[in-house]
Amino acid sequence: MLDHLKANNRAWAARKIAADPGFFKRLVGQQAPQYLWIGCADSRVPANEIVDLDPGELFVHRNISNLAPPQDANYLSVLQFAVDVLKVRHIMVVGHYGCGGVAAAVDGQRRGLVDHWLHPIREVYADNRQALEAISDKRVRLDRLCELNVIRQVRNVASDVFVQDAWGRGQPLSVHGWVYSLATGLVNDLNVTIRRPEDLG
Ligand code: CO
Repeated sequence: MLDHLKANNRAWAARKIAADPGFFKRLVGQQAPQYLWIGCADSRVPANEIVDLDPGELFVHRNISNLAPPQDANYLSVLQFAVDVLKVRHIMVVGHYGCGGVAAAVDGQRRGLVDHWLHPIREVYADNRQALEAISDKRVRLDRLCELNVIRQVRNVASDVFVQDAWGRGQPLSVHGWVYSLATGLVNDLNVTIRRPEDLG
């Protein structure tokens, strides 16, 4: 079963070792990534590939529509481990234009559990209703909602007690908001980086 994937895996591991014989041996000992990526589960947004980082260099959390909900134990566990144990220097919340989850959040259709998961995006929409509904092109409006969602999640991360406590200890840590373009392969930095509690405004 899945023989082609196993063959891919063997070839990939062999290429890694050919380029750097000690590659996997080094990683066994410890991971020391400097970055935590919080991104969408979408198959077109592969975290390591987009920023061309190797195994060991990027700690990754992905879910539908790159949310950072302050009650989600999965996300919080990742965040705490990244901040308290790995001591990452940067956290990137990475949305992407054309996000199906963002579109589904506001299309009025019922899908089940995911409607609850996407609820925070409807809140972002409601908080920015006027500005969003002033955008006549639906795709442009949804892309703006993708950006606004990222900005909201950046604030969630930065206002979390794990992050606040890290800053309190003097630990250097920045929270960034990016949106990835499926069409170009390029990341758009929204320039909403939060480096200290005062940046939350
Ligand atoms: Co998405």
